[in-house]
Amino acid sequence: MLVAAADRVPLPGLSWSRGLLTMKLLTRILCLCLALALSWADHHEHASGSSNHEDHAHGHGHAHGHGAEGPDRCKGIEMDAAVVTEEGVPYFFKGDHLFKGFHGKAELSNASFAELDDHHHLGHVDAAFRMHFEDNPNEHDRIFFFLDNKVFSFYKHKLEEGYPKDISQVFPGIPDHLDAAVECPKPECDEDSVIFFKKHEIYHFNVRNKTVYEKEFKTMPNCTSALRFMEHYYCFHGHKFSKFDPKDGEVHGSYPKEARDYFMRCSKFGDDSDHVERERCSRVHLDAITSDDAGNIYAFRGHHFLQKFENDTLRADTIEQDFKELHSEVDAVFSYEGHLHMIKDHEVFVYKTGEPHTLLEGYPKPVKEDLGIDGHIDAAFVCQDHHIAHIIKGHDIYDVELKATPRVASNKRPISLFKKVDAAMCGPGGVSVFVGNHYYHFASTMLFVAGRALPEQHRISQELFGCDH
Ligand SMILES: *[C@@H]1O[C@H](CO)[C@@H](O)[C@H](O)[C@H]1NC(C)=O
Ligand SMILES: *[C@@H]1O[C@H](CO)[C@@H](O)[C@H](O)[C@H]1NC(C)=O
Ligand SMILES: *[C@@H]1O[C@H](CO)[C@@H](O)[C@H](O)[C@H]1NC(C)=O
Ligand SMILES: *[C@@H]1O[C@H](CO)[C@@H](O)[C@H](O)[C@H]1NC(C)=O
Repeated sequence: MLVAAADRVPLPGLSWSRGLLTMKLLTRILCLCLALALSWADHHEHASGSSNHEDHAHGHGHAHGHGAEGPDRCKGIEMDAAVVTEEGVPYFFKGDHLFKGFHGKAELSNASFAELDDHHHLGHVDAAFRMHFEDNPNEHDRIFFFLDNKVFSFYKHKLEEGYPKDISQVFPGIPDHLDAAVECPKPECDEDSVIFFKKHEIYHFNVRNKTVYEKEFKTMPNCTSALRFMEHYYCFHGHKFSKFDPKDGEVHGSYPKEARDYFMRCSKFGDDSDHVERERCSRVHLDAITSDDAGNIYAFRGHHFLQKFENDTLRADTIEQDFKELHSEVDAVFSYEGHLHMIKDHEVFVYKTGEPHTLLEGYPKPVKEDLGIDGHIDAAFVCQDHHIAHIIKGHDIYDVELKATPRVASNKRPISLFKKVDAAMCGPGGVSVFVGNHYYHFASTMLFVAGRALPEQHRISQELFGCDH
């Protein structure tokens, strides 16, 4: 099924003569490679920055607590500001704290943006956005923070010289005490712009000639923070959010939605949420994914899993419900000979694929004993008719011959395309590799490991699970 998704892009001109088609294809591939090479650093950083960071936040959030516990985002708080950093990590601000990524504890904002405190004791941030207009190198990739009547510009986490400045000086026509701000590059907006929000007033600031257009976004609630994420625009209000069209501010579809369902990883905060809708559309990275021999896909995230049947029907439930012994948060899963091999920390759990999923006798076993490699595996997959488990751990991939006794991890080689992989699975059409919100398809394990250029990027939520927004 994944293959179908990857192949959905039709090749043009199949009726052409073979030579012409080949030429056209070669040109396409060359262009694609070039484009990818150019944007490569960006994706690379995005992917690894995001995951590394989340691990960090997840594992060591406490260390930054400075004694005082920060706010708990799973309690349904209203964020003051939100911005996606140049590494692609969304930051959410609340009071003098900051949440990095989609899960993990709050940190003090001044630990990441020290100078915010020097000039102005940081009680809170009103608004933030990232200037993201590539042909404007003096301002590209700056993160701007708005506090009362001041604006701070950070480049690579350092305050730029001359800042803070008055908002009226840098963004003439934009009021003080803002509620929210978000960048809007062309062609998502007609001109490279920044959209500012204050009460129900909306200001489009043209970054080229600094003109301001005031607009009224009729259907949108007053935003307390706004975020551009994967070319979509989100207005947060309370603990809800609405996706809006940045050109006209219209909200289409059934909004507002609960922010904790899509932008946070909260195990449980209420019974009224629709698991299928949340899991198919969540922007939080997957922990593990596999497809069984019958073509059913199982995707694991936090305490839940999403199952996509061969007939495209989706089902979501808690991991606890179907895989009781495993409870939650798996590291890697692969399917082999009618069983799901699920790895969590230092243990392997093997379940029968059919319902109900029963744990095989003798499991869980230590990963080291079962697969001949130490735990904390990032991803694992087996390709059809091969008896080799490909195990991804950090930057490296290993092969484990499953028919051998004892099993040993061998053939270690580095993965050049990704710093960190969240999950991977193999089907008849090849390997799919999951990083952050995206997946990439490779015709074979060899092409994935030896690859030098990223193939087309697919969105997990839309293209794999059919989320419509
Ligand atoms: C950061 O902020 C906290 C509380 O707002 C304060 O106690 C601490 O001294 C600040 N740290 C720095 C390095 O400014
Ligand atoms: C939005 O802001 C306007 C003031 O511009 C205010 O009258 C209105 O009550 C606010 N709406 C909400 C839902 O807070
Ligand atoms: C700024 O640019 C916009 C869009 O190109 C244009 O409509 C507007 O007239 C310009 N304003 C000034 C003052 O040049
Ligand atoms: C799809 O397949 C699943 C599992 O076999 C079944 O429970 C479900 O009813 C099917 N849905 C449709 C619409 O056929």
